[in-house]
Amino acid sequence: MTQAPQKAPYTTNNAGIPVESDEHSLTVGPDGPILLQDHYLIEKMAQFNRERVPERVVHAKGSGAYGFFEVTNDVSQFTKADLFQPGKRTEMLARFSTVAGEQGSPDTWRDPRGFALKFYTEQGNYDLVGNNTPIFFVRDTIKFQDFIRSQKRRPDNGLRDNDMQWDFWTLSPESAHQVTYLMGDRGIPKTYRNMNGYGSHTYMWINGAGERFWVKYHFKTDQGIDFLTQAEADELAGTDPDLHRMDLYKAIESGNAPSWSLKVQIMPFEDAADYRFNPFDLTKIWPHGDYPLIDVGRMTLDRNPEDYFIHIEQAAFEPSNLVPGIGPSPDKMLLGRLFSYPDTHRYRIGPNYAQLPPNRPHAPANSYAKDGPMRYEPSLAARPYAPNSYGGPAADFSRFGDPASWEATGELVREAYKLHREDDDWGQPGTMVRQVLDDAARDRLVSNVTGHLKADVSRPVLDRALQYWRNIDKELGDRIAHDVNGG
Ligand code: NDP
Ligand code: HEM
Repeated sequence: MTQAPQKAPYTTNNAGIPVESDEHSLTVGPDGPILLQDHYLIEKMAQFNRERVPERVVHAKGSGAYGFFEVTNDVSQFTKADLFQPGKRTEMLARFSTVAGEQGSPDTWRDPRGFALKFYTEQGNYDLVGNNTPIFFVRDTIKFQDFIRSQKRRPDNGLRDNDMQWDFWTLSPESAHQVTYLMGDRGIPKTYRNMNGYGSHTYMWINGAGERFWVKYHFKTDQGIDFLTQAEADELAGTDPDLHRMDLYKAIESGNAPSWSLKVQIMPFEDAADYRFNPFDLTKIWPHGDYPLIDVGRMTLDRNPEDYFIHIEQAAFEPSNLVPGIGPSPDKMLLGRLFSYPDTHRYRIGPNYAQLPPNRPHAPANSYAKDGPMRYEPSLAARPYAPNSYGGPAADFSRFGDPASWEATGELVREAYKLHREDDDWGQPGTMVRQVLDDAARDRLVSNVTGHLKADVSRPVLDRALQYWRNIDKELGDRIAHDVNGG
């Protein structure tokens, strides 16, 4: 890999003052004590001690690149969003990641992969923070923290623990669809370039006439889907733990820019009420037979970050960044996420994270925000409040059309979603096992699950896990039970 060329002819300290030496501290005689007045040495030590920000609480290990999104098909009848208008090209940033592993963890551990996108649109930043799977493990935000803790490390011994993972999954049957996906071939992509991305949640689109639609996003890899077997991944975890980061970087550096074709499923607003599945349940897909894929455009990643920490580690994606023409849906996971991400960014990076290079909008930010640690952009208005009679900005959404909204009434309750005709936890994963996977993929699924269950999963969790797989597909579950029991 090429290194950035040397830019400065001589070393200075952070204030731009030439330093006396790169190699020797200031001492009293060659063998004497170091002096406090060597402020450059002290600056170096103090700066080093503060080089890290906390790693992301999830999705800590990641890689990313800049690129652009271009519209190839007219979908303006569904959304007025600036970035989806015919002929439009929008600059963007992408970050891919594993979920449970820490910053130094191997890229090839079995895990969903994050697929986080930031589009610098003319109407502000649009962030689509999805995964390489169209579904998720739980359907209510209140279970997300428990789910993640079951995937991370035990408090007593600091170890990850398959027993803990299956304990949570088998007590949470809504996880079955995502677990089937995870244990199949798509649980370890060959590279980040060889996986699809999904918005996963249902979102709202609003067109210029104020009509509303429900939408699901699918980014199909133009490089083709490819995966690693468990055995290949296990070996690479030792020999090449940064494989996926390296692959993305080198592909872009060599001019082999990866791309993904964006397609959407569109559901008319009124269909949601009595669709056969709850269309806002994140553990469900919409079958393509019901809502076919419609072409939208293509994203291409063609520019590596010039500084990994600045552009990727400090990148702050937030599902609450929704632009005119795009809104949330009643998905209880999505609504929780709208709070969680800006909150974690304020803790992880600092309250002025939105001013940093990867996060600052390309559109003007006419916000009344002011002050706080590390702020370097001046306040917009001399009088920092609204309403304002001294020329400060005034909200005027009317120029952007209708805002996203839907009706909600009822008592305050703690209940699951209203059931739709075909809602259950086992049906869609069963369809995947029986109708989407071929024999070889089913064999690998059995082998992956068996290997995982044999690694320290104890009764009664193990018995529940065998029943879990029989609920998904009786024949598949029987095969797994046979292999786990040493048959
Ligand atoms: P379709 O036959 O129309 O779609 C099946 C989908 O499965 C395709 O998009 C395909 O993606 C994907 N797929 C193929 N192989 C695998 C695999 N090994 N692991 C995961 N996904 C795979 O059927 P339906 O739309 O009726 O869905 C049937 C089942 O397929 C669902 O229950 C779900 O489990 C799974 N699925 C559905 C998706 C959807 O949005 N409808 C998306 C992904 C999976 P590709 O084109 O990239 O090969
Ligand atoms: C990262 C919370 C569900 C995709 C994160 C982070 C938090 C978080 C706190 C760390 C962000 C950071 O420090 O920058 C939650 C909560 C969820 C949830 C509370 C459920 C209620 C999901 C789902 C998806 C997802 C369903 C995908 C469909 C991601 C991705 C990242 C991430 C891709 C990494 C973003 C990046 O690359 O910086 N999540 N998450 N999360 N989450 Fe979630």
